[in-house]
Amino acid sequence: MWTHYYSVSTIGEALELLAQHGDKARIVAGGTDLLLEMERHQRPGVETLIDLSRVRGLDEISRYGDEIRLGALVTHNQVVGSTLIRERALPLAQASWEVGAPQIRNRATVAGNLITASPANDTISPLLALGASVTLSSLSGERSIPLRDFYLGVRKTVMRPDELLSAITLPAMSETERGLFLKLGLRRAQAISVVNVTVILRLEQEQITRATITLGSVAPTVIRVPVAEEYLMGKPINNQVIQEAARLASITPSPIDDVRSTAQYRTEMIKVLVARALRALRAGTERDSLPAHPAMLWGSQQGRLTPETALSEPVEHNEQTIEVTINGKAYSLRGANHKTLLRALREDAHLTGTKEGCAEGECGACTVFLDGAAVMSCLVPAPRAHGADIVTVEGLANGDTLHPIQQAFVEKGAVQCGYCTPGFVMAGAKLLEEQPEPTRTQVEESITGNLCRCTGYYKIVEAIQHAAELQREKT
Ligand SMILES: Cc1cc2nc3c(=O)[nH]c(=O)nc-3n(C[C@H](O)[C@H](O)[C@H](O)COP(=O)(O)OP(=O)(O)OC[C@H]3O[C@@H](n4cnc5c(N)ncnc54)[C@H](O)[C@@H]3O)c2cc1C
Ligand code: FES
Ligand code: FES
Repeated sequence: MWTHYYSVSTIGEALELLAQHGDKARIVAGGTDLLLEMERHQRPGVETLIDLSRVRGLDEISRYGDEIRLGALVTHNQVVGSTLIRERALPLAQASWEVGAPQIRNRATVAGNLITASPANDTISPLLALGASVTLSSLSGERSIPLRDFYLGVRKTVMRPDELLSAITLPAMSETERGLFLKLGLRRAQAISVVNVTVILRLEQEQITRATITLGSVAPTVIRVPVAEEYLMGKPINNQVIQEAARLASITPSPIDDVRSTAQYRTEMIKVLVARALRALRAGTERDSLPAHPAMLWGSQQGRLTPETALSEPVEHNEQTIEVTINGKAYSLRGANHKTLLRALREDAHLTGTKEGCAEGECGACTVFLDGAAVMSCLVPAPRAHGADIVTVEGLANGDTLHPIQQAFVEKGAVQCGYCTPGFVMAGAKLLEEQPEPTRTQVEESITGNLCRCTGYYKIVEAIQHAAELQREKT
């Protein structure tokens, strides 16, 4: 993995380190892309990670007049939870909601999603359609790049090795603009886009006076389809217009065949999704796909840095022990700075309740709480836990008294081999903390990041619902 790990407390410190280490260093934010790339040796030559995730003030979503600004550490869950984004940049909230699962969205940032620069990354298409720009900072100053000029090809951007992304800005949608994001994946969660579509229309007196359509996962970069956009200008949204615009959008790209889809299927699906989006805009149902009270699994701090969790000075972790509170007890972990948090918990803290299923963020067996939010510990660098508060499955029971969720799993027989159970129990416990009376939909949302290969999900869902009853009886 990495040989040097720094946690910075300001952007300036990060820029100094980037200037010093050049292309041997990478910024790490949520780590949900970078750790996998390091593990798969897709970042040869990168030795140094510069952790930005504890810099105060970078997790803000703010509004300046008609402009919305996202700091570099804004996570997908923060976007989903933001009233401002839901009201004035709905397609972005819908795209963030489609990313991974709650434990991924609690760590993964929008900035990281843009920089990884896969054409399948979900927030690129809405941000491109919304006319967003990124601010790139280096020791020599700042430059603002419109997102349309940011990408050079698959996983390639104009960002230099000495630069970092410090902010994303976008114009808020006006009263006359409406839009939505739609994604087609091979399953309903934890799925990479086969095709994604953003459509934004300006509608005045029932006529389209401006149209933007962007398509993800169909070309080396996310693209616009001017021929369909121009066709829509000055027209009402009726069946014939919808059909023709969808056809025009689908003939523009020449998608690739890959493991997720044939080119022909992608072309057909562009047509289906563009038509679906236009029909939803006509019917005014574009908000229906985003739940009002989604399961976030982010605890009372809502994934935000607090004065306690932000750093006040930089830390060079290399020789340092990791001083961390786990389940209320202080631990000093030696020699774990080059590991993931999952490995450090199991190998160094000897807390083996947290399981490794996939080690890729896909199965949820490694779910723990990091400063109150549920995360996949296989994607958290262990040094990120220095000074943090961690809860593992061993910390849920109160002495000999099981947590209601543990009791419910026993009573409902929601366990077979048990390998996935710690992850489900952690996800369920966090859900009950934020939704004492969860709906069935919220229960299902809370476990979208958890896989069980032998029980099936009925008993697990039943157990989480029963746990809510047990919790209510206790209080
Ligand atoms: C199981 C799983 C499911 C996923 N599902 C989806 C999905 O459905 N849709 C989707 O779009 N993505 C998905 N992803 C990908 C990933 O979670 C997102 O791309 C995420 O937004 C990346 O953000 P991060 O903060 O984790 O980035 P990191 O991994 O920390 O960084 C990603 C890249 O950006 C660079 N970087 C990060 N921040 C900065 C900065 N401020 N300045 C300069 N460089 C920076 C890093 O050096 C690295 O190259 C999934 C990943 C996993 C593991
Ligand atoms: S999600 Fe971490 S081990 Fe599977
Ligand atoms: S009980 Fe065996 S994997 Fe879930």
